Amino acid sequence: MVGAGQLARMTYQAAIALGVELRVLATDAGDAAVRAGAPHAVGSAASLADLRAFAARADVLTFDHERVPPEHLAALEAEGVRLAPGAAPKLLAQDKLVARRRLRELGFPVPPFALASTRWEVEEFGAEHGWPLIAKAPRGGYDGQGVQELPAPCRPAAPLLLEPRLELERELAVLVARAPGGESVAYPVAETVQHEAMCREIVVPAPIPDALAAEATGLATAVTEAIGATGVVAVELFVTRDGLLVNELALRPHNSGHYTIEGCVTSQFEQHLRAVLDLPLGSAALVARAVATVNVVGPADGSDPAERLAAALAVPGAHVHLYGKAPRPGRKLGHVTVCGDDPEPTRAAARTAAALLEGRA
Ligand SMILES: Nc1ncnc2c1ncn2[C@@H]1O[C@H](COP(=O)(O)OP(=O)(O)OP(=O)(O)O)[C@@H](O)[C@H]1O
Ligand SMILES: [Mg+2]
Repeated sequence: MVGAGQLARMTYQAAIALGVELRVLATDAGDAAVRAGAPHAVGSAASLADLRAFAARADVLTFDHERVPPEHLAALEAEGVRLAPGAAPKLLAQDKLVARRRLRELGFPVPPFALASTRWEVEEFGAEHGWPLIAKAPRGGYDGQGVQELPAPCRPAAPLLLEPRLELERELAVLVARAPGGESVAYPVAETVQHEAMCREIVVPAPIPDALAAEATGLATAVTEAIGATGVVAVELFVTRDGLLVNELALRPHNSGHYTIEGCVTSQFEQHLRAVLDLPLGSAALVARAVATVNVVGPADGSDPAERLAAALAVPGAHVHLYGKAPRPGRKLGHVTVCGDDPEPTRAAARTAAALLEGRA
């Protein structure tokens, strides 16, 4: 697995159970997966030589992030390295503009968009769709970094993907796992709740009508199939007055799927390994009536949530996951999942434990 952050760390936990040898490509020995003991190489995901050397010892290469130059992936594939997902589908998770264009071409609903390099192009899009606009860096953004609101015309420093600021009724995420042969399994539809463009809470099942859930599942499955992904795919959806729109894709385990560790028969991390290794996929069924996950984010005072572990563990039913990352304000450092019978108390318990870890309660 290229990358050794929290996703690799939790994938490593799943690999231990399966007895699968997972090695990670880390930027340094302080990375979350390495601290958990995952066998690793130190190297740069931006270096073709490092990727090549790392891949030489593996049967198949997969990813815990998007920050691998697409041209390196194409080169590795041309040299016969097995990538899961492949370079072409992975590009849709790496470049928001490529994804918007490709999904629109394939007939999937996406927000209106344009690429703007000049002030005039920004003005024109704003005149058509109204202010403010949402502007995104096509590549390299995550956790809302790279997403900004444009209140008025400006001259972009670099080309920007422009979208209208949509009225969102909700945001949903659907995870789909797809095996190389095309077999796929969809997880229950999750509602994701963001603050300042970062995902903070995940509520499952999403409190939406069955028909909308079925539509979201169908859409996510069709997208996964159409792009030929292998492994776990997270399809982020906007619910608008006019229906569902595909926001973005991640071709890897995803923050919106951490709830599956305790909440589903097969966690997204185990499922990703199964799919990537072409093993039979597992059931994605919920094991509780309600599941909630709340992210633990580094508090403003720079303190480490790990100091408050005991307080959080006193919350009944709280499954605490801390990633062993250096605390920084605003950085995702862990999450808490609670499974229950009723959505509201389940979510409240997860919120309480996360607030305790963040020192807010
Ligand atoms: N066109 C839009 N209108 C309204 N809100 C938007 C729009 N685009 C993005 N957002 C908000 O910003 C959030 C982050 O946007 P997006 O998913 O495109 O960026 P990201 O940084 O790659 O996200 P992440 O890595 O957190 O998934 C969305 O989940 C949504 O809350
Ligand atoms: Mg997103």
